[in-house]
Amino acid sequence: MAGGDTDGTATTTGTTAGTAGDTGTAGGPRDGATRVWSALRRRLSDEATAALGEDEADAFLTRVDLALVDVHGPLAELYGDRADDLFARVLRTALAAAADRPRALRRLDRRRELDPGWFQRTRVQGYVCYVDRFCGTLDRLAGQLDHLAELGTTYLHLMPLLAPREGENDGGYAVADYRAVDPRLGTMADLEAVAGALHERDMALCIDLVLNHTAREHPWAQGWLAGDPAYEGFYTAFPDRTLPDAYDATIPEVFPDRAPGSFSWVPEARGGAGGWVWTTFWPYQWDLDYTNPEVTLAMLGEITWLANRGVDVFRMDAVPFMWKRMGTTCQNQPEGHTLLQLLHAVTRLAAPGVVFKAEAIVAPDDLVQYLGAHERFRPECELAYHNQLMVLLWSSLATGEVRLARQALGRMRAIPPSTSWVTYVRGHDDIGWAITDADAAAVGLDAFAHRRFLNDFYSGRFPGSFARGALFQENEVTGDARVSGSAASLCGIEDALERDDAAALEAGVRRLLLLYSVAYAFGGIPLLYMGDELALRNDAGYLADPARAPDNRWVHRPPMDWAAAARRGEPGTLEGRVFAGIRDLGRVRRSLLALRGGTEPELLDAGSDAVLAWRRRHPRSGAFVGVANFSPRPREVDADTVTGFGSFVQVHGSDGRLGVRSGRLTVPGLGFAWFAEP
Ligand code: GLC
Ligand code: GLC
Repeated sequence: MAGGDTDGTATTTGTTAGTAGDTGTAGGPRDGATRVWSALRRRLSDEATAALGEDEADAFLTRVDLALVDVHGPLAELYGDRADDLFARVLRTALAAAADRPRALRRLDRRRELDPGWFQRTRVQGYVCYVDRFCGTLDRLAGQLDHLAELGTTYLHLMPLLAPREGENDGGYAVADYRAVDPRLGTMADLEAVAGALHERDMALCIDLVLNHTAREHPWAQGWLAGDPAYEGFYTAFPDRTLPDAYDATIPEVFPDRAPGSFSWVPEARGGAGGWVWTTFWPYQWDLDYTNPEVTLAMLGEITWLANRGVDVFRMDAVPFMWKRMGTTCQNQPEGHTLLQLLHAVTRLAAPGVVFKAEAIVAPDDLVQYLGAHERFRPECELAYHNQLMVLLWSSLATGEVRLARQALGRMRAIPPSTSWVTYVRGHDDIGWAITDADAAAVGLDAFAHRRFLNDFYSGRFPGSFARGALFQENEVTGDARVSGSAASLCGIEDALERDDAAALEAGVRRLLLLYSVAYAFGGIPLLYMGDELALRNDAGYLADPARAPDNRWVHRPPMDWAAAARRGEPGTLEGRVFAGIRDLGRVRRSLLALRGGTEPELLDAGSDAVLAWRRRHPRSGAFVGVANFSPRPREVDADTVTGFGSFVQVHGSDGRLGVRSGRLTVPGLGFAWFAEP
């Protein structure tokens, strides 16, 4: 029977309604959940039937039965004896959202309940863009879907598009209203139309959900400032520096140059007495206080409402920061995970086809937990950014060797088979060098010195560097910094074009395709960042806009260059070359079952420290092996390791079919190849 599992989770696939009588370990989380559910079930069942009709109500109640522990458990852990009360309230929030869910989306839900691994399929391939920079307004997006379809896109992440505050808004990450679209981009009806147009083509829509903070202009923040009891305790303000100083002593700064510390003085706070408001990011982004369950409920209302507009994937922004604890970094706290588990479980009661993607740019051991890889699995997010892979790709490119990548990737904890990574080369943020001391030491590097080298290299300071990036948030106290710059510029394409050096340009293109070849075949949903398919370079245009000028992350957020896009079909052009290269990665990827999510890549040592080699297996297909040579020179690898003693054939590569001689396979400089068992 469903729910009869003893590990306290309700993730079995059997579905039998009416399992509320099941008991798990005495006194365990199931007990509390079962007790309150048996008291509530009949009443909620009547409400559900009235709201949803008999069949849908049955499905809804079955979902509740299956998720009992995942909903009640977190409530009890986070909010103690208020849990029972809150349990009834969150179920009603979910029921109201289920009732409000449009028919077409319910049909999608049903398909995804039948095919819960839909996002792990090799046909799922992502593209990330800003609406204004891609096509101006939302109503023009449907007209540009062909460009995306040509690339094989089936998953579209539209960068922040909800109504932000006026003026500086951190690229839209300071939301003033979750239920309105930024009027410069269109309306909520436009967004629903976009979702509909995407669904018609079997594409999924991803948008950002900024949960750690709202803009200070958000009505919750304004209500809180004004002393409205409905918003009491939504945010945190301290009367003096005592606690802020104590917290700041162990919190790493996100934006040390213009927003030092994690608190901002707000004179209107505390009834006009003034207070230090918790602001992890910019001073106008106020951290919500999730120790207050009213905040959690309010956010659940926003998530489920947006899900009903047609959002398939929520990119859960800055999730490591949501729970604070004195004496810690105030990141990755256990309660933050519990909170995400709760939001996830409740959202999926209302919208079972919706998945969460964690944006947790943290160290590898912390990262896997956002996918539910705790000591004991608990469903959390289905997807998470593989920032380790991203960082190690750039690190390997700078050093021309992969020992660190092999070490760090090779020891990462396996992720639950029901989850996947999103793999990427560049995004809208800076690159932060998440390289741990232990991994660096294991390959004889000093982590701090290596990070410094990478900063020097990608900011172009290092002698002989091909990269044209810029340092972001240099911290004079700690010596840390991160890097901004577009993929093409960091790969040397900008430098080569300026120097009009054909050989350097060729190398730059090979580097870009090399990185994407790993992102497309390592395992997980590959994300293509807008413009990379045309090798768009850094854009200094942001300097003219005072709201953007101080934040050099804008250098790698160029407007789409449609003139360049028009050349994408011309093989002799830079754009034609890169576009075809990336499009082909997707095309071949789609045909390889072994690249589907749900299994782990295995790092191989093929006998060259310049060549990243990895193997993937899928129970229904033969294995896959990918090789990527980060050195500019050809490198020989052990052919048997790569080709599985001849049982593999090469299915793709940068340089045609590679030859084997005396047991050695030569991988051209900055070249890659994919092999698969027929
Ligand atoms: C995330 C976003 C970043 C933003 C921050 C605060 O890290 O990716 O762009 O500055 O959250 O919302
Ligand atoms: C602040 C934080 C909250 C934390 C509390 C006590 O109120 O916003 O998250 O739990 O301090 O540490």
